[in-house]
Amino acid sequence: MESYAVLRMPQTINYGRHAFERVGEEAAERGQKALIITDKVMQELGYVSEGRDYLTKAGVESIIYTGVDSEPTDTYVAEALEMFRHHRCDIVISIGGGSCIDTAKAVAVLAKNGGYIGDYMGGKNTAQFAPAPHIAIPTTAGTGSEATDVTIITNISNDVKMMIKQPAFMPDAAIVDPLLTLSSPKHVTAATGIDALSHAIEAYISRKAHPMTDMIALSAMRLIVTTIETAYDTGENLDARESMSLGSMQAGIAFSNSSVCLVHGMSRPIGALFHVPHGYSNAMLLPVILEYSKEYSIERLADLGRIFAKEEENLTDEDAAQLAVDSVKKLCLKLNIPNLCGWGIDKQEFESVISKMASDALASGSPANNPRIPEQAEIEELYKDCFEYDFSSKSKVG
Ligand SMILES: NC(=O)c1ccc[n+]([C@@H]2O[C@H](COP(=O)([O-])OP(=O)(O)OC[C@H]3O[C@@H](n4cnc5c(N)ncnc54)[C@H](O)[C@@H]3O)[C@@H](O)[C@H]2O)c1
Ligand SMILES: [Fe+2]
Repeated sequence: MESYAVLRMPQTINYGRHAFERVGEEAAERGQKALIITDKVMQELGYVSEGRDYLTKAGVESIIYTGVDSEPTDTYVAEALEMFRHHRCDIVISIGGGSCIDTAKAVAVLAKNGGYIGDYMGGKNTAQFAPAPHIAIPTTAGTGSEATDVTIITNISNDVKMMIKQPAFMPDAAIVDPLLTLSSPKHVTAATGIDALSHAIEAYISRKAHPMTDMIALSAMRLIVTTIETAYDTGENLDARESMSLGSMQAGIAFSNSSVCLVHGMSRPIGALFHVPHGYSNAMLLPVILEYSKEYSIERLADLGRIFAKEEENLTDEDAAQLAVDSVKKLCLKLNIPNLCGWGIDKQEFESVISKMASDALASGSPANNPRIPEQAEIEELYKDCFEYDFSSKSKVG
């Protein structure tokens, strides 16, 4: 555990049912002309026109960029930035999942600091000027990106999902309204819910965890573990959606201030090369990596096990940690998570890029935060173990 710690989050978090209605006031405090960065699904659902109405009432003009697709690329960033400049906007508003929010973060920073987004990776280039104000409005629960200083953008020239982290990427304001997640289909609810759970778990077992992130990560794990299945089974259950929105935002704050670890490090290359949605690629790895890490994080995984096992009071730490791993596996089965083979990835093609994926994972720095730090060869083995992983198999004990 690190002895020195800073906790960063957006200046303002509007949270709760109907929080979306606050977007006009929040924007009017920060600018006069907004670029709304979003996708076509948000437009079809009516969220974009609803947001524009609130902005108009507050005297804020808006134009829209709807070109974002899942796993955002440097091309979307360049297109949206061009619109921001061309229309002389002074504020960015993202409406959508993590893909829209991450694109907007990059635009907000580049609008005031210039350059190519990839240059900000690994601290090569640091933002010298405050970014354009950014209001992030998530519609998934989720990435927690509304409350993180991380953006993840794919470099299309080398298929690397760049993980870029600097305080300047933190949105100024987050508007977290669970009503916006009610329309999320089952597969998106499953993928994004497991992503949120992975954030909470990795923030808690990370070598960079500290008491302030622990408190938030524990709360996030409790909220997510107790409501994820209800949100999946009965998407119209607003109480469950609300807990998931709160849990995913808390998980975002937790990991942004501690870190993610091996699951995310290994997940990004799968997303970049095989276009597996981020939450699914995490879930495909999560049980195997928790099993791999367990002996190095018994007490922390025992805390997770006790959250899953509400009624079992007399578990040893060993048993509770094992129960955490088994419960995550069961949850993946319940949420119909496929393994990599089941997703339709060709085995030979997968094996031919394992070495690149392992080096990209290591280069991201995330594996070094894991309780058990792997070598390249171990990461390669873990990829192989995940390919045809049976979520209903018995765990290796010890
Ligand atoms: N910056 C961060 O801190 C951070 C953290 C985790 C993940 N990420 C990144 O976020 C991206 C994934 O974001 P995501 O998981 O939110 O998915 P997403 O934004 O890619 O959205 C997935 C799909 O769900 C649709 N969708 C979103 N909300 C909906 C709703 N309410 N109703 C109906 N459809 C809806 C979208 O239109 C899209 O088709 C990845 O690129 C991932 O790497 C970023
Ligand atoms: Fe994630």
